[in-house]
Amino acid sequence: MALCVLLCALCVSVACSCGGVVRIAVIAGDGIGKDVTAEAVKVLDAVKQSSALKLEMVHLPWSAEHYLATGETMPADGYRMLRDEFSAIFVGALGDSRVPDNRHAREILLGTRFELDLYVNYRPVRLIDDRLCPLKDRTRADVNFVVFRENTEGVYVSIGGRFKAGTDDEVAIQEEINTYKGVHRIIRHAFEYAAAKGLTKVCMADKSNAMQQGHALWQRVFKEVAAQYPGINATHMYIDALAMFLVKDPGQFQVIVTNNLFGDIITDIGGALQGGLGMAASGNIHPGRTSLFEPVHGSAPPLAGRNVANPMGAILSAALMLEALGRVDEAGRIESAVEMAVRDGRTTVDIGGSLGTREVGTWIANQIATR
Ligand SMILES: NC(=O)c1ccc[n+]([C@@H]2O[C@H](COP(=O)([O-])OP(=O)(O)OC[C@H]3O[C@@H](n4cnc5c(N)ncnc54)[C@H](O)[C@@H]3O)[C@@H](O)[C@H]2O)c1
Repeated sequence: MALCVLLCALCVSVACSCGGVVRIAVIAGDGIGKDVTAEAVKVLDAVKQSSALKLEMVHLPWSAEHYLATGETMPADGYRMLRDEFSAIFVGALGDSRVPDNRHAREILLGTRFELDLYVNYRPVRLIDDRLCPLKDRTRADVNFVVFRENTEGVYVSIGGRFKAGTDDEVAIQEEINTYKGVHRIIRHAFEYAAAKGLTKVCMADKSNAMQQGHALWQRVFKEVAAQYPGINATHMYIDALAMFLVKDPGQFQVIVTNNLFGDIITDIGGALQGGLGMAASGNIHPGRTSLFEPVHGSAPPLAGRNVANPMGAILSAALMLEALGRVDEAGRIESAVEMAVRDGRTTVDIGGSLGTREVGTWIANQIATR
């Protein structure tokens, strides 16, 4: 029962096909998304070969390349297909300057978050090895928290417009959407996660001093939900103060919950605390439904195709995916292999090693295959 509660808080999907085949849609995307996804797939293959996991990975070509060649970002029934035909979705990264408005990225990634209602953006920030932390005298004990970013509202819904665009009289309006339902469900999720994991602190970050309409709603809902979890110390920080404390004293945080934009920004700080963006993993989740897993980083065009991108964020995202599908042992095996690689210096140059993307992936896959 306890395990079940924990797994629910970690967002186990009903799409987990117990006893059956677990089908994963793999969208490598653009730039280094392709490089790191190849390694995550290599590692998942190693897990599959060395366990009873029946995994089927279906590669979907949706990317800038595909859009430029065909004029199609994704098929008309793409969202339905992802939702109904797969247990989970794995994405590398999307973004390519040859598509100036990044329309394909918006439709494939943001579109899937919205259409599949993946309201939880789950971003664990865990330092694997002290030497990766850029902060002086900080250790693994200081960098170990999770961020829950609201993933379906805020300023990312693209409501607004431009009037007299391109002139000196231009007016640009971008609305921020906050609904009771949206705010309530992400805050409740953060508390449920904390309770299931035996954690005692949840911090909500907003900018209610300056954004007095939308963020008053965050204040109200946070107090309302917090009152239902008397064993959890619920605190509030303005987002600017939180950004400062993430650098100054990250050890004070266990669970952070915030909106779409602020969560996007502070998890890049989180990535830096872990050793760099290449280390950061994430899940875009609707508990009980098909969810999407991806490294936090983007397509990093200058690194693409050069065998230099760090694949660990992608590989750890694959572990989050298996964990969410209820494959906790297999997820743990991946995490242990990544930790071993970091300890042994089997890493890419961004975190002090000398291996290429492919060599890191192969080393981790071999560890899994031989243990
Ligand atoms: N989820 C996504 O798909 C996603 C997220 C962020 C940005 N983007 C898109 O990616 C493109 C590039 O954006 P950006 O340059 O601002 O952000 P980025 O995350 O792609 O890269 C920023 C910098 O971080 C470092 N970095 C990132 N990932 C790394 C890795 N795996 N290994 C080593 N170093 C790594 C590199 O120094 C890189 O220059 C844009 O088109 C943007 O819209 C996509």
